[in-house]
Amino acid sequence: MTSTVITGIGELTTNDDELGTLTDAALVIDGDRVVWAGPAADAPEADERFDAAGRAVLPGWVDSHTHLVFAGDRTAEFAARMAGQSYQAGGIAVTVEATRAATDEELAANLRKHIAEAAAQGTTCMETKTGYGLTVAEELRAAKIAAEADEVTFLGAHLVPPGEDADTYADLVRGEMLDAVAPHVGWCDVFCEQGAFDADQSRRILVAAKERGLGLRVHGNQLGPGPGVQLAVELGAASVDHCTYLAESDVDALAGSDTVATLLPACDLSTRQPLPDARALIEAGAAVALASNCNPGSSYTSSMAFCVATAVLQMRMTIEEAVRAATWGGARALRRETGDGAVGVLRPGARADVHVLDAPSTTWLAYRPGVPLTHAVWRKGARVG
Ligand code: NIG
Repeated sequence: MTSTVITGIGELTTNDDELGTLTDAALVIDGDRVVWAGPAADAPEADERFDAAGRAVLPGWVDSHTHLVFAGDRTAEFAARMAGQSYQAGGIAVTVEATRAATDEELAANLRKHIAEAAAQGTTCMETKTGYGLTVAEELRAAKIAAEADEVTFLGAHLVPPGEDADTYADLVRGEMLDAVAPHVGWCDVFCEQGAFDADQSRRILVAAKERGLGLRVHGNQLGPGPGVQLAVELGAASVDHCTYLAESDVDALAGSDTVATLLPACDLSTRQPLPDARALIEAGAAVALASNCNPGSSYTSSMAFCVATAVLQMRMTIEEAVRAATWGGARALRRETGDGAVGVLRPGARADVHVLDAPSTTWLAYRPGVPLTHAVWRKGARVG
């Protein structure tokens, strides 16, 4: 195994409570792990040396919400939205049709292309979902293809297939579909929203998933107020994603729970929804993550830097809060922020997922929005950008 010392770090964000954020720092990686972090003057020797030349270094982005097993695009739907039409969750059916028509190889190649696109921008850990299959065979196929991502979520309850009865389909999801897909995934998610699945249908599916040992996630409060957040908290979901329309009681419930509020600002912009009230969540004490929600319908970007810039410029998050939400927060939403091989942190024992910015500090992510600032990326100790 080869070790590398990254020296000359102008600002090192570790997300570790003891190490904190260091200036004039160094980081040593060995194989796929971080083995040392601290002041540059104390850095141990290593086989190779990378001079960061005063640049900022932070953990790779942890993108905890994407939908990347898909085919086709929805350019026309997006253009219509920008011309004034509202976002309809029913657009998902367009991608379902294209996805069913694609071969395994085409779907895998498309997934790989988007993972590589994100890695080149500093994303080193990515979750992705099924949800554009909506039959037992198609959801199983999607789950197997999705295995290239770090974390895989089953989202059979993404949309009631057109022409089908919601209760009958929800029963299929919590029965035969979960039986087939559960061995291939770590998580189960439901789209708990008017026009998708109601609270009772969502609860039944999530309880069935929990009984099969899966972790829980919920799409909630995206298009209007609703029961998603409360359901996620009630069932101990790791994360409730979107959180665009929150009541005070939702904020309080999240603050008193272990459920992460995952905010998806690129989606809210692309669907012309308001941006979530990050300040209320943070001030109440809720854990917050930022994710891209990369998918061809509601949020076709893999740029976590764009999400961070938006969170700072338009959601009144501080730079530190936004960067932490896009690294540690994503890791927490995936329950991967602690232990051997943790992501979203840079401390001895963490996975060697390192992002060097072409900037002296993370402040530049919002100060220079839209400018590509990724200088170098390591994922599991290997250079990927
Ligand atoms: O998270 N809300 C549901 N699912 C996706 C949208 C997927 C699509 O429109 O294709 C989301 O925004």
